[in-house]
Amino acid sequence: MIILGIETSCDETGISLYDTKIGILTNKLFSQNKIHTKYGGIMPEIASKNHYKKIFIVLNKALKKTKKKIKDINIISYCAGPGLPNSLLIGTALAKSMSLIYKIPSIPINHIEAHIMSIMINKKVPKFPFISLVTSGAHTLLCIVKNYGKYKIIGQSLDDSAGEIFDKISILLKLKLPGGKYISKIAKYSNKNLNFPKPLINKNTLNFSFSGLKTHIFNYIKNNKLNFKNKANIAFSLQESITNILIKKIKLASKKYKINTLSIVGGVSSNKILRKKMFNLTKINKKIFFNNKKLCTDNAAMIAYTGWKKYLFNKKIKNNFEIDIKPKWKINENFKN
Ligand code: KG4
Ligand code: ZN
Repeated sequence: MIILGIETSCDETGISLYDTKIGILTNKLFSQNKIHTKYGGIMPEIASKNHYKKIFIVLNKALKKTKKKIKDINIISYCAGPGLPNSLLIGTALAKSMSLIYKIPSIPINHIEAHIMSIMINKKVPKFPFISLVTSGAHTLLCIVKNYGKYKIIGQSLDDSAGEIFDKISILLKLKLPGGKYISKIAKYSNKNLNFPKPLINKNTLNFSFSGLKTHIFNYIKNNKLNFKNKANIAFSLQESITNILIKKIKLASKKYKINTLSIVGGVSSNKILRKKMFNLTKINKKIFFNNKKLCTDNAAMIAYTGWKKYLFNKKIKNNFEIDIKPKWKINENFKN
């Protein structure tokens, strides 16, 4: 089967074609990072406008590259949330209209679930049950993945996500988006750890809180000169705080639930220092699973793959045009998108 994946939840226009025998045929992306850097953050209206402008171009490129026609597509899998409403609308409108015109079933997919499932696209995959740390621009959460479609959230951010802090501080340091990427680049030139706070790190909780760290750095920047060395020190210290918190919490989750197979997904999981620290956990008997960078950040292959799994696990398909499968877990209403 060929699955078409469509991702437009934030600022990446993603189209993928996934062959259930071969794997990813293409995973095309148009990123709006440059556009939103100018505004100091993601501008929802500008994001949706650019999805609209680019989505057919990206779709055509994907079809051309794989030499596939629309009639070769068996299932359309699209991101239905969480995300920016008007951005989601573009992908949804494309999926539903293609579904109606070409009579192809369409499947709405939860973005967080797709990040979790992205780890299963690789050659070496974790065995169930495993712990997944989802760390992206919009979410930071820990869950136990019991099987396809069966998740239990065991911890989540009470306020901002780790990615959000990277992005906001990057803009304050006059760097670019995605913040984490540019923060980690400049952090290499640091000569001093400023020992920024690490909220909740030593508390017996699997929840996260990053807003205090953000305020602390806001104040530090206000009261100190921003030369290159100081910027590098801020970047390094921020990266240290966030990565240490994430590692400590995934270790605690592993201990609490006695699960030694761990995965880390989402944009922040492409961070080299975090990956190094995660890899060190293999020395204490943990099995660690990462994605390659293209599957860490937002992409449509993870949407296509999750759609395929949902299709397989949903035996009773009545409505041919939409298979409405609700995720088995609720996203905390505190999550802002
Ligand atoms: O998963 P993602 O593409 O989008 C959401 O679902 O939100 O994650 C984007 C986040 C951004 O906050 C960005 O700063 C962060 O991933 N990110 C990184 C790195 N590359 C992207 N964070 C740390 N280190 C990186 N190398
Ligand atoms: Zn994402």
